[in-house]
Amino acid sequence: MWGSFTEQLGRSVYEGIYQPDHPTADEDGFRKDVIEAVKKLNVPLIRYPGGNFVSGYNWEDGIGPKDQRPTKLDLAWRSKETNQFGLHEFMKWCQKVGAKPDMAVNLGTRGIDEARNLIEYCNYPKGTYWSDMRRQNGAEKPFNIKVWSLGNEMDGDWQIGHKTAYEYGRLAHETAKVMRLVDPDIELVASGSSLRTMPTFGTWEETLLDHVYDDVDYLSLHQYYDNYDDNLAEFLGKSVDFDGFISDVVAVCDAVKARRHSNKRINLSMDEWNVWYHSKADDDKQAPWQEAPHLLEDHYNFEDALLVGSLAITLMKHADRVKIGCLAQLINVIAPIMTNTTGEPSVWYQSIFYPFMQVSNFAQGIALKSQQDVPAYKAKDYDVPYTDSMATFNPDKDELTIFVENKSKEKVEFESTLANFDVTGIVEATQFCGYDIKKTNEDQSMKLQTLSSITVSDNKVSANLEPLSWNVIRLN
Ligand code: AHR
Repeated sequence: MWGSFTEQLGRSVYEGIYQPDHPTADEDGFRKDVIEAVKKLNVPLIRYPGGNFVSGYNWEDGIGPKDQRPTKLDLAWRSKETNQFGLHEFMKWCQKVGAKPDMAVNLGTRGIDEARNLIEYCNYPKGTYWSDMRRQNGAEKPFNIKVWSLGNEMDGDWQIGHKTAYEYGRLAHETAKVMRLVDPDIELVASGSSLRTMPTFGTWEETLLDHVYDDVDYLSLHQYYDNYDDNLAEFLGKSVDFDGFISDVVAVCDAVKARRHSNKRINLSMDEWNVWYHSKADDDKQAPWQEAPHLLEDHYNFEDALLVGSLAITLMKHADRVKIGCLAQLINVIAPIMTNTTGEPSVWYQSIFYPFMQVSNFAQGIALKSQQDVPAYKAKDYDVPYTDSMATFNPDKDELTIFVENKSKEKVEFESTLANFDVTGIVEATQFCGYDIKKTNEDQSMKLQTLSSITVSDNKVSANLEPLSWNVIRLN
């Protein structure tokens, strides 16, 4: 399931989702221009409220009359949090954009008690202290939140309330226990490694799973990439690293499964992935304790879009185990969608919006296994195939979609035989190419173009791929 992530951080919520004085604000203070932009991504799941933020957050601060909500220091991002946007607002906004929440509980400064109160507040129908408080606050029906994250990046020493794998494993187990006592139908995500390069990677998963194997449905993993070295070939090769990371986490899950003689399989939730580095130097210069500061506002260029496309293809290749894939994040903060506080355009789309929009809309249904014969180039640590591709079949629409990226600086002849599929027509074929790799999209000139050099006959698809191009071919 493609997903996204929005954290109470920077201008993600305030000036992103929520801005009551904006000309496009609706009756709830939500920006309609942003709602329309988010709908284009068609993400069924959005993780909230963090991120590092959640590890110091008291969810009760964000409920009840807005004029009585406290303004507090958010220690994760050294900002001021006014709590004008909280649980009810998020749930209402999710409905408006057509997504379900993946709700994270604070296992940094808080724990079992907070989690049981929160789930009683959200999912218990009525007649108890917390459920009746929800009703008084305007939500008669329970929210029935299905997917819950047990904390965030607890392996990182930057995390408020950072823990050892043993400490977190014990807490996650006990928290999962009480949450399931309140609502047995929930799905739980345990917090795995924050990056493949974490010193504890591997042992963290093993120790944690020893405690929570029977309690959780998913193990999370997070990964961000940068191009500080300004080396395109190495940068585009990061998808091979991403692939290896996923395979390693699957291997640890299955090793624990074998050791426990268990029949249960743990799936993965890649609940933060993206490129993140452009804004870091500016963020270090920001004054602390601002409301809605401009933080993590990476402006993405064309090479970033190519990597995002290739990471998305990698996720599809692991669709048998990666069941949740949340691009981090959604609006303004390392995001595909940006807003201007005033003036036009009020919303603008980053380069990475286009590949993500296409996978979230068209990589639906069944991921198809393929045999590939592709030459590779040598990067520092990996052999990187010049083209990356994957196909999905959506039985509801009877549509087969091929996603293919050309990472070489030359044109490439692409050919695919679709065994057992009877395709006759092209629904749409697009390419995203021709831009300088450092071009960003503030001027909104980047567009998907028609891929016309394509033929389909006898269940064979052939296309002439432009150098450095992201291509999507929809067939029926
Ligand atoms: O997405 C930005 C931050 O990256 C999140 O708050 C944290 O979970 C990760 O380190």
